[in-house]
Amino acid sequence: MKIVVSTAGETKQVAQIMAAYVEPNDVILLDGDLGAGKTTFTKGLALGLGIKHNVKSPTFNLIKEYHQGRIPLFHMDVYRLEGVGGSDLGLEEYFNGGGVSVIEWAQYIGDELPPEYLRIQIVKDERDDQRRTLSFKAKGDHYSKLISLLEEKWSSFR
Ligand SMILES: Nc1ncnc2c1ncn2[C@@H]1O[C@H](COP(=O)(O)OP(=O)(O)OP(=O)(O)O)[C@@H](O)[C@H]1O
Ligand SMILES: [Mg+2]
Repeated sequence: MKIVVSTAGETKQVAQIMAAYVEPNDVILLDGDLGAGKTTFTKGLALGLGIKHNVKSPTFNLIKEYHQGRIPLFHMDVYRLEGVGGSDLGLEEYFNGGGVSVIEWAQYIGDELPPEYLRIQIVKDERDDQRRTLSFKAKGDHYSKLISLLEEKWSSFR
């Protein structure tokens, strides 16, 4: 499923809508180049969960936890793990920790991913610096349903 957005605000809105459908122990992978909008998406998700803190990239700590919302948010940015590979990061504890885990640059931890997850790829437009294509891919039935719900809600929202 693909959604084309024309502003950062719209990226946040898509994420905010999705936040209504996420459940404890959901895992969301965010792929996309530098500045694609992975953190922007996460901010929208946090907003939708009712988290009032300003979500910033967890550049210093690999992981930031937010416990104020409907369900906890575990925000991970594994950019600096490029090339580390095969390391035991103990991420499963987060994946099974009762919150929603969001991972920026998840391609760097390929061997530690859970069996099922939602992958969102954000691609910039060559001509329009505000435009993005968000591609949603599910691994597992639960995430296929989540995508259908989001698609339905987004099309009626617009
Ligand atoms: N449609 C859009 N969606 C998301 N961000 C957008 C959009 N249009 C413009 N932007 C801008 O692009 C930037 C995206 O930055 P952001 O930190 O979210 O990207 P990122 O993918 O997390 O980058 P990094 O790889 O450095 O973590 C922000 O300044 C945002 O305002
Ligand atoms: Mg980021």
